[in-house]
Amino acid sequence: MAELAPPLLAVEDLKVHFAIRSGVFQRRVGEVKAVDGVSFDIRYRQTLGLVGESGCGKSTTGLALMGLVKATDGRIVLDGEAALARKGSVPKSHRRRMQIIFQDPFSSLNPRQRVRDIIRAPLDIHNIGTPEERRAEVSKLISLVGLRPDQADNFPHQFSGGQRQRIGIARALALKPEVIVCDEPVSALDVSVQAQILNLLADLQKELGLSYLFISHDLGVVEHVSDRVAVMYLGKIVEIGRKTWIFGKPLHPYTELLLRSAPSHDPHHRHTFSAASDDIPSATRKPVGCAFHTRCPLATDICRQVDPPLEEKGEDHSVACHHR
Ligand SMILES: Nc1ncnc2c1ncn2[C@@H]1O[C@H](COP(=O)(O)OP(=O)(O)O)[C@@H](O)[C@H]1O
Ligand code: SF4
Ligand SMILES: [Mg+2]
Repeated sequence: MAELAPPLLAVEDLKVHFAIRSGVFQRRVGEVKAVDGVSFDIRYRQTLGLVGESGCGKSTTGLALMGLVKATDGRIVLDGEAALARKGSVPKSHRRRMQIIFQDPFSSLNPRQRVRDIIRAPLDIHNIGTPEERRAEVSKLISLVGLRPDQADNFPHQFSGGQRQRIGIARALALKPEVIVCDEPVSALDVSVQAQILNLLADLQKELGLSYLFISHDLGVVEHVSDRVAVMYLGKIVEIGRKTWIFGKPLHPYTELLLRSAPSHDPHHRHTFSAASDDIPSATRKPVGCAFHTRCPLATDICRQVDPPLEEKGEDHSVACHHR
C-alpha cells in the first residue's frame, strides 16, 4: 500500500528565525520565528502537500531544505544520511538530490539566456558529462517537459507563463534530483494552464520516481496532488497525515476553518479569510500558548497558556490541539 512507503526525506524540528534589526547600528531588536519547530516525512515517490495562509512559513521551510536560507536549528535526513541544519549547512551531496521550482519562473530565468543554455546551466556548474552529452541531455529534457525542439533557441520572454514553468521544471530536472520542492508552482497561472502543469508534474513523478514537497495556499490544488498533507499555522505544523484524514476527517479547528473558507463552487457558500477574521496575528506578533487561540471557537484557558504538541490521533494522523 502506498502509505507504507518509507520516508525518503525526514525533517526534524526545523527552525528558521530571522533577526529584526533597527537603527543606525542595525541592532537586533527582535526576531521573526518564521519556522518554529517543524517535523515531517516525505516518502518515496509520494507528494506531501504543505498548506496554510500567506506568511505562515511555507516558503521559508522549502528554502531551508534547499539550504537557500539559513536554518537556525533542526535536522534534515535524506535517504538515511543526516545533515545538521544547524548553522544552515546543507551538504553538497544533498543539494544535487533536491531541487526547487518557484511560483514565478520568469523572475528566476535569465532573460538574456536562450532556453537551451538555461536548462544546461546546472550541468555546466556541476561539470556533468561532455559538451556533446550535455547537448543531448538538454534536448531530452526539453521534450520531457513538453516543449518543442525548435523552441530551444528562444528567450524566456517568448514563452507563455505555463511554458516558462516547463522551462523551470526542465532546469530543475537536469541534475536528476529525487526530491523537488514545488513552491506555489501553479499559483500564477490560469486555471486551464494549471491543470496542464499539474498533469506534467504527476507524469514526471511516475516516470522518474520523484518525491514532491508541494507548497500551496490553494486547498483544491493540494487535495488534487497530495498523498499526505501538512497544515501550517504561524511557523508550526498543526495537523499532518494522509490526505483522506485531512480532507475527510479534519481534527484541528484551523484545518476546519481552511476547509470552510476554501472557495466553493456555490457562490452562496463562498467565504474568504478576510470575512472570517479581521485580526489575524502574524509571525512577528505570535500569540502565546496555542497560536491559533485568537481565532479559535474552542479556545479555553489552557490554550492561552500552553502551546499544544503535535500528537498522534490515528494511523498517519497527528494533530496539535488541547481539545481534539
Ligand atoms: N528574509 C526574511 N527576513 C525576515 N523575515 C522574513 C524573511 N523571509 C520571510 N520572512 C517572514 O517569515 C514569515 C514567513 O514567510 P514565508 O515563508 O514567505 O511564508 P509563506 O510562504 O507561507 O507565505 C513571514 O512573516 C515573512 O514576513
Ligand atoms: S489548542 Fe485550543 S485554541 Fe488551539 S486549536 Fe485547539 S482548541 Fe483551539
Ligand atoms: Mg510563499
